[in-house]
Amino acid sequence: MKILSIVGARPQFIKHAALFPELRKGYDNVLVHTGQHYDSKLSAVFFEELEIPRPNYNLGIGSGTHGYQTGQMLMAIEDVLSKEKPKLTLVYGDTNSTLAGALAASKLRIKLGHVEAGLRSFDKSMPEEINRILTDHCSDLLFCPTKTSVSNLNKEGISNGVYLTGDVMIDILLRDKEIAEKSSVLQAIGLKSKQYIVVTIHRASNTDNKENLKNIIDALCEMNQTTVFPIHPRTESFLKRYGFYDKLKKNSKIKLIEPLGYIEFLKLMNHARKIVTDSGGVQTDAYILKVPCITLRETTERVETVEDGWNVLVGADRVKIVSMVREFEPKGEQREVLGKGNASKNIKNIIDCVLKSELGKRGQEGG
Ligand code: UD1
Ligand code: UDP
Repeated sequence: MKILSIVGARPQFIKHAALFPELRKGYDNVLVHTGQHYDSKLSAVFFEELEIPRPNYNLGIGSGTHGYQTGQMLMAIEDVLSKEKPKLTLVYGDTNSTLAGALAASKLRIKLGHVEAGLRSFDKSMPEEINRILTDHCSDLLFCPTKTSVSNLNKEGISNGVYLTGDVMIDILLRDKEIAEKSSVLQAIGLKSKQYIVVTIHRASNTDNKENLKNIIDALCEMNQTTVFPIHPRTESFLKRYGFYDKLKKNSKIKLIEPLGYIEFLKLMNHARKIVTDSGGVQTDAYILKVPCITLRETTERVETVEDGWNVLVGADRVKIVSMVREFEPKGEQREVLGKGNASKNIKNIIDCVLKSELGKRGQEGG
């Protein structure tokens, strides 16, 4: 039986790397890479170090406006799905690649599974929120990372095909944490364990908005702490466009580096004193690693990390960022809210049950 998975952006390669070892037990797997991320530091590095098989199709779509990018992907994915005719299509997370895959599969009436269903920030100014809502509303199998995500779907009238599985990002983090400890990334960058801050920024609300980006850069300079900042290409290009790049580059406390592969980044996070980020995945990584997280957003879809007191939302407010980097100390106990590290196994078991029961039904009908 054939399962076709669609990936395209950094977090999706990691999520697929978590799930693939399970999917390969019993299914013919076809992998489609939309080409949304194409720089080797955002794409190839994950295939190499996480041993993801080469994609069967690389659609090479690349960057563009939302409409252009999603439209090009939709057309190209439709062609592949029509040719491959999988029993199930899987999409991951909340990017434009997720939405394009979901639209193509559901219009062709191919069963669609969404890994990381039901997350909501309730902020429709985020392109990711639109992608999540639309994908969930056309999915047949909704693999939810948390109880909150199940309840979000129920409130939108979606209850069929909803499964609480846990978060596949936690599976891979727990799986690779020990391996990551062997990385020499701290020495390579010149960092000492628990004596530096990790920063990642790539959300449109922070990068494209000049005032927000300026506030964040001013805060990073003002906090005067050893800081390591693996720069996403989107952020680098806006920093240069707005003339902020040189200020960061000249700051002796801030180490600007290229994006890292997962294993090196995992080690970097694990030994950080604090993490400052606007990423979705990094908020949950920080939570599991018990590193205090300061989130450069007004809302989050990872509400449990905030409720448990390990994550604080500061938006792009310079004063709040600086004071939280200095003062924020989590007090809360952690609940097991993101799963036990067995989300991938749970997803595979559900897929087995659903696809086999369908096969059974068709057998009975003589189909
Ligand atoms: C995308 C996702 C976001 C996710 C993030 C993960 C959407 C709408 N956004 O954001 O949800 O959190 O990936 O990292 O799907 N670029 C390069 N090289 C690349 C890829 C992009 O230089 O390999 C630059 C281009 O200038 C491009 C810009 O980054 O225009 C933005 O890329 P895009 O894929 O549109 O969105 P991300 O910001 O990466
Ligand atoms: N990540 C990485 N290298 C980096 C920055 C991030 O491997 O330089 C990993 C990190 O573990 C995170 C994942 O990429 O969980 C998510 O990617 P990103 O922050 O780009 O996307 P989001 O989760 O916001 O959609």
